[in-house]
Amino acid sequence: MAEILREGNVWHLRNEWISYALCEMPGGVLAHLYAGPRLEKLNPASLMRRAGIQMEGFSIQELALDRLPREYPSFGLGDMREGALTVVAPDGTRAVDLRLEDARVLPEKPALEGLPATRGEGCAAVQFALRDAHTGLEVQLNYAIYDDCPAVVRSARLINRGDAPMTVERAYSLCLDVPDADWDLVTLSGSWARERSIRRRALVQGFQGISSQRGASSLQASPFMALARRGADEACGEVIGMALIYSGNFIAQAEVDHNGGARLLLGINDRDFTWRLDPGESFQTPEAAMVLSSEGLGGMSRGFHALWEKHLLPARWVNRDRPVLLNSWEASYFDFDENKLAGIAQAAADAGVSLFVMDDGWFGHRDDDTTSLGDWQPDRNKLPSGLKALGDRVRAMGLQFGIWMEPEMVSPDSDLFCAHPDWCQHIPGREHITARHQLILDLSRADVREFVYQSVADTLHESGASYLKWDMNRNFSNIGSAALPADRQGEVPHRYILGLYEVMDKLTADFPDVLFEGCASGGGRFDAGMLYYVPQFWCSDDTDALCRCEIQYGTTLVFPPSTMGCHVSAVPNHQTMRTVPLQTRFAVALGGCFGYELDPRALTDDERRTLREQTAFAERTQALRLYGAFYRLASPFEGNETAWMSVSQDKNEAIFTFVRDRAMPNTLPPLTKLRGLDAAKRYKIVETGEVYGGDELMNVGLCCPIPVYGSGDAWAALYTLKAVDEA
Ligand code: DGJ
Repeated sequence: MAEILREGNVWHLRNEWISYALCEMPGGVLAHLYAGPRLEKLNPASLMRRAGIQMEGFSIQELALDRLPREYPSFGLGDMREGALTVVAPDGTRAVDLRLEDARVLPEKPALEGLPATRGEGCAAVQFALRDAHTGLEVQLNYAIYDDCPAVVRSARLINRGDAPMTVERAYSLCLDVPDADWDLVTLSGSWARERSIRRRALVQGFQGISSQRGASSLQASPFMALARRGADEACGEVIGMALIYSGNFIAQAEVDHNGGARLLLGINDRDFTWRLDPGESFQTPEAAMVLSSEGLGGMSRGFHALWEKHLLPARWVNRDRPVLLNSWEASYFDFDENKLAGIAQAAADAGVSLFVMDDGWFGHRDDDTTSLGDWQPDRNKLPSGLKALGDRVRAMGLQFGIWMEPEMVSPDSDLFCAHPDWCQHIPGREHITARHQLILDLSRADVREFVYQSVADTLHESGASYLKWDMNRNFSNIGSAALPADRQGEVPHRYILGLYEVMDKLTADFPDVLFEGCASGGGRFDAGMLYYVPQFWCSDDTDALCRCEIQYGTTLVFPPSTMGCHVSAVPNHQTMRTVPLQTRFAVALGGCFGYELDPRALTDDERRTLREQTAFAERTQALRLYGAFYRLASPFEGNETAWMSVSQDKNEAIFTFVRDRAMPNTLPPLTKLRGLDAAKRYKIVETGEVYGGDELMNVGLCCPIPVYGSGDAWAALYTLKAVDEA
């Protein structure tokens, strides 16, 4: 059980695995004391010594704050490190002196106004109210610690209790000071078709980190960072993971200071951000989640997976089967009509698929990516009888029908743009800057949000679709809203995200049975904010199985397999022109929500037969693959081999995936040590009939019988393990 204990001026948040402690300094300054493995009994004096906190005679004089680990450091009081908060007071100055006024354990975790956040069940929550007496700014720091995972979540709410407007220039969600810098910083970085590569570097004095100012969390950087002890690996060592539940601009930064400690900051990027806070108004930061692991990066990942699955992802989709789908994009791109789609759908049905998805190109006069976004009426040249007719035809084959939209966009060549040229983000008098020939709708406007909601709702009603792929294919530029005054233009990026969340909130509530899958040029907005609404996200536009080994492996650092859309595509692969065996494409796509991204009619009879078997296997193993405890075993970022496995909660079943990238002749067969099994149990490898002890599989390893010669590149093994009574 999670609990919040108070001893004098020290607060201790703890559960079965972790402790998080804060203390009030003389004068009401709130300091950070400890974040790490559970402590039975806090020893405040030694923790303070460790954190460099001198309680006796403390005041903020003589730049004392420059050495103090403050819980929510503000700018301008002599702490020369980067802080979490900058607010311009009515007199134009920026110093903010926050002192603790009140601390109370809350009966339940408050929801965050307008923002996705972990849900309130099964946690203990506490709020610290701080106030700047000079301006009347109040900051409420809200924390919650969960019963069932090693996680603490936190956010800040700013309230202007003064009588004049203030301007918020920075309001991060999390600050964490750690007393030494003997850590590596781990981040997820990438690009289009190369999302979420794991990057690890030793901390050094100065700044390091990642950020996005693209309007979305982005393909290039994920709103996440971790500190891993120098020697920590997948299984061992101390790791602190931090992820932001937000889908827009963010910053994740580590600063090693002159004291030799490190300060971690995570929140909305203050670049291109200001917020006017009128008297009585409040500003809510996104929520940040911290997972504290003593079992290395693997333990951190399982902590995040549990936190999201139990407390963030749409509850109705967790632990539920996801349909094996076939998506039309790589099968036909823009070149289709109703009969062609029906042909592909029939072939999909023959392969046992349960959902057919029509991707881009069905509306307006969209034969390429230059037109029609915003005109969400079916193209009668392609679909002469409309959406419902196609949907009905697909359903008559025993399939569900799904559809693609990019609701946040408008093409300059569209009726929508002609009717409402001011509905896009733009700066009057400046030339429009398009990307993929499109502009971004201004979701900070209520009328635009209503249009977006209605377009999606009408499309769902008309088509009867039970699945919607929600795409978003460009970054922000010429950022401006025709509906906001000059001194609020700095609010546009965040208001956009709030607007997006409002629309998603309403749509997911009004269409609870529709499965929404997120997409942003692949995984360009794959973050915990979006995953509050969509249970799965298209991992990447790169469907090459070897590239996918890296992309999916990196993604699992923070997100569970159940959130990753993973499809078998045709060869040669459309992004890399590489030809990978079907078995390997299959093994890799089983790493998440399984589907196809190809035209089955173009396959041989043999391949189609294999597809049927694959589909049946994917369905049979769903619960284990998507919701089992996940272990990364061999990293494609470190070598020629990739391996991962999932283990059922009762440890009676497991599924193991191994991929060797380049064939290496004359080498010993690869041996992979499995994890997470019961050492005392015996396991049968279903595919080979061999029986091993759990201890043997974990301590000696499992040998993949890769041929010494002639294995070819991109060789994969896929084994299912079942606990048996046999000796
Ligand atoms: C980008 C997506 O990532 C693709 O899967 C596809 O839906 C295209 N957009 C369609 O334009």
